[in-house]
Amino acid sequence: MRTDTPPIVRLSDYRPSDYLIDAVSLDISLYADDTLVTAELAMRPNPAGVAGAPLRLDGDELELRAFTVDGATPAAGAWESSPQGLTLHAPPQQPFRLRIVTRVNPAANTKLMGLYRSSGVYCTQCEAEGFRRITYFLDRPDVLSVYTTRIEAAKDEAPLLLGNGNLQEAGDLSGTGRHYAVWHDPFPKPAYLFALVAGRLDTVSETFTTMSGRKVEIAVHVEPGKADRAGYALDALARSMRWDEETFGREYDLDVFNVVAVSDFNMGAMENKGLNIFNDKYVLASPDTATDADYANIEAIIAHEYFHNWTGNRITCRDWFQLCLKEGLTVFRDHEFSADQRSRPVRRIADVRTLRAAQFVEDAGPLAHPVRPTQYSEINNFYTATVYEKGSELVRMLSILLGPEAFRAGLDLYFSRHDGHAATIEDFLACFAEAGGRNLDHFAQWYAQAGTPVVTARGVWDEAAGTWTLHLKQTTPPTPGQTEKRPQVIPIQMGLIGASGRELPLQADNDAPLQGDVLVFDREEMSVTFRHVTERPTPSLFRGFSAPVRCDIDLDDADELLLFRADSDAFNRWQAVQNLMLKHLAKDVAAIRAGRGRAGAPAFIGAFGDFLASEGKRDPAFVAQALSLPTEGDIAREIGSDIDPDAIHAARQTLRQAMATTLLPALRAIRDEAEMEVKFDPGAQAAGRRALRNLALDLIAAAAPDEGAERAASQIRSATNMTDRMAALATLSLLPGARREDALTAWEREFGGDPLVMDKWFGVQAMIPEAGTLDRVRRLMSHPGFTMTNPNRVRALLSAFSLSNPTQFARADGQGFELIADAILELDRINPQVASRMLTAFRAWRTLEPGRRVRALAALQRIAARTGLSVDAQDILNRMLA
Ligand code: ARG
Ligand code: ZN
Repeated sequence: MRTDTPPIVRLSDYRPSDYLIDAVSLDISLYADDTLVTAELAMRPNPAGVAGAPLRLDGDELELRAFTVDGATPAAGAWESSPQGLTLHAPPQQPFRLRIVTRVNPAANTKLMGLYRSSGVYCTQCEAEGFRRITYFLDRPDVLSVYTTRIEAAKDEAPLLLGNGNLQEAGDLSGTGRHYAVWHDPFPKPAYLFALVAGRLDTVSETFTTMSGRKVEIAVHVEPGKADRAGYALDALARSMRWDEETFGREYDLDVFNVVAVSDFNMGAMENKGLNIFNDKYVLASPDTATDADYANIEAIIAHEYFHNWTGNRITCRDWFQLCLKEGLTVFRDHEFSADQRSRPVRRIADVRTLRAAQFVEDAGPLAHPVRPTQYSEINNFYTATVYEKGSELVRMLSILLGPEAFRAGLDLYFSRHDGHAATIEDFLACFAEAGGRNLDHFAQWYAQAGTPVVTARGVWDEAAGTWTLHLKQTTPPTPGQTEKRPQVIPIQMGLIGASGRELPLQADNDAPLQGDVLVFDREEMSVTFRHVTERPTPSLFRGFSAPVRCDIDLDDADELLLFRADSDAFNRWQAVQNLMLKHLAKDVAAIRAGRGRAGAPAFIGAFGDFLASEGKRDPAFVAQALSLPTEGDIAREIGSDIDPDAIHAARQTLRQAMATTLLPALRAIRDEAEMEVKFDPGAQAAGRRALRNLALDLIAAAAPDEGAERAASQIRSATNMTDRMAALATLSLLPGARREDALTAWEREFGGDPLVMDKWFGVQAMIPEAGTLDRVRRLMSHPGFTMTNPNRVRALLSAFSLSNPTQFARADGQGFELIADAILELDRINPQVASRMLTAFRAWRTLEPGRRVRALAALQRIAARTGLSVDAQDILNRMLA
């Protein structure tokens, strides 16, 4: 059994640092396996700290080479150090200088935290606690310092040297083959925002003129030979910069802004000041290699990291419990950006799909935690859907409750009041309370209470009185450590639709908490009566998904169809279709499990034909979203417990087939209309047309497999872009046979040299819902293109399998669980962050039917029994098995 229980950090234990670091001067001499880091720290006691306290600097796997205090080596006994820290027992009580020399080995750093090498490029990742792997430091976000960084490297190996801030000086070291650059960042920042890059990279750049007329050199740096794939990211960056000026009045503040793409990266990207470092998957795009989804992700993540310059960097977090302060707010900002650049409802639908698939599942299981957690043992495990996505929903609710003007005023106040500081959620909310002139104490509970509230809504129409009364009730299921839940402030954006399909006026009793079309529901139960309701109304609640809750409402299929046809809110039109399908599917799953056989085609399919015909041309992206079936994960979430993935798969296939059969003529018509896309256009309009055409292909394959396979195989050959090629491969992957295997072989021949395109190939095979997939995945793990040291490869193959192939990951014989358990054990020695992320694939294990539950538990227990498991993995296991 393990004995090393990881220590727990608590929000309630926060106290200011006893020392501050005003200025940091770094001199980093890069060698692949022997890099020397000299840090000079200008320090002083913090007036807000404890006078005379010892100074404890953080370290992680460091090798100390030299240490002086004000130029002299302190006496033995006055200090001590280990790879994990350096303590000075009685530091000077006036300003003093430390000089620390450490040695690090970038080439051996497979954790990808701190300084490491990716395809020969030196780069860093310091959030959350990576800087302590470079030098001993007060590695906490409330210690802000001005950094000057001298980077030195061999000129042929690293012609490009990049740091935070502006370039101050550069030159050659004659006769050595080495050169250097000095970067200075005038904006005080926490260590997690430090970065450097040194390597051979190709660059695309342009000049951006800010709203006040300053010129900024913006650049994207990529692997040699890939500059032709960097243009879209550069364009998205310029659009993000303009948007933040126009929408929030935020201007960029340095002379340069650099984006670097590296191929080995734990997460999506990192907002280091003036030097964003990206997973290359979220930078590189060309019509031949990137799908429309890739383009949309690149645009969103480029924007996200850029927006952090104000929400994260200029104003950072006091401690890591406040992570949502920067992440929730920045996700909200990138969602708004994408909505403005593309179609707002289509983006909203996609974002809510993600929220439900990731956050609702997290919130319903053993890893549930509040948007602002109160304790952690490994902070990297809290970069979660709850902190990011639910965190963003809380900011969105704030904007709905306050209205656009007060919301903007609150944000302006936040920027002016906290610029240059490390802030808290309380600081943030105080700005909105002040600007909006309202008390947000109750709203603040959203940050503290975990779990997804369920709102039960029942309407009663009194025809004679012309009134309609809405009875509301809210409950939040218990989550780990929080058994008692209190009511939340829930904004319900709503409308009433008359039988004819017209929108009825919203006239509530005077004392009803109705602000415009937003009903503020902030207690356990509430009833609101609406007057002048002269026809039977169908309520449209949570328009635009105005709150991150589940809504339980007793609408029948006819009501849902009315909303689908007539709601002025596009999100709720989509939701109505989802509800129709989910209700049908849940019933069908129960029937299959009870041995009663599969259901026939549901009547609501009839409405889809007209919809395709009338709206397919006008808004193909929306139509494609609406007619996409819920995923197997969505269905499992709807059912909630005693999950049998095979029954879910069977029910979904039955509905898919029924839909496709009914719609076949219309689907063929969509396919056969000549699509004359002369030049690839990555814009939302063209992407929407591609989405609908490819949905049609996928449905045709369900109704007429042979025809579908033929069309898909021919589309793979003739496609002029990756979206169409990939969609066809995905469709074909569901149809066993030689055509599929030939297409896979051809793909490998064509794209074998391109890791990002091969990731799609790994992924599509990992998701095949067939028993043979287990062996296929095992085989692919020894494919020359696969490696456990690259997070993108691991995710492409193994996360695709564990997260997107429920029938095979959760095989009844437990072999899918065992495969992933083996991989986690291997990966944990290489990269604990990626390993512990993969472990979360088991988070819904308790919802499985008993047989599979036992198998999942056995796999988890086998992992837990391993000695020397990382803290990251132990933390997830402890919570998942508790
Ligand atoms: N701040 C980055 C972003 O959201 C994510 C960095 C996460 N890194 C980590 N090691 N957990 O843009
Ligand atoms: Zn972020």
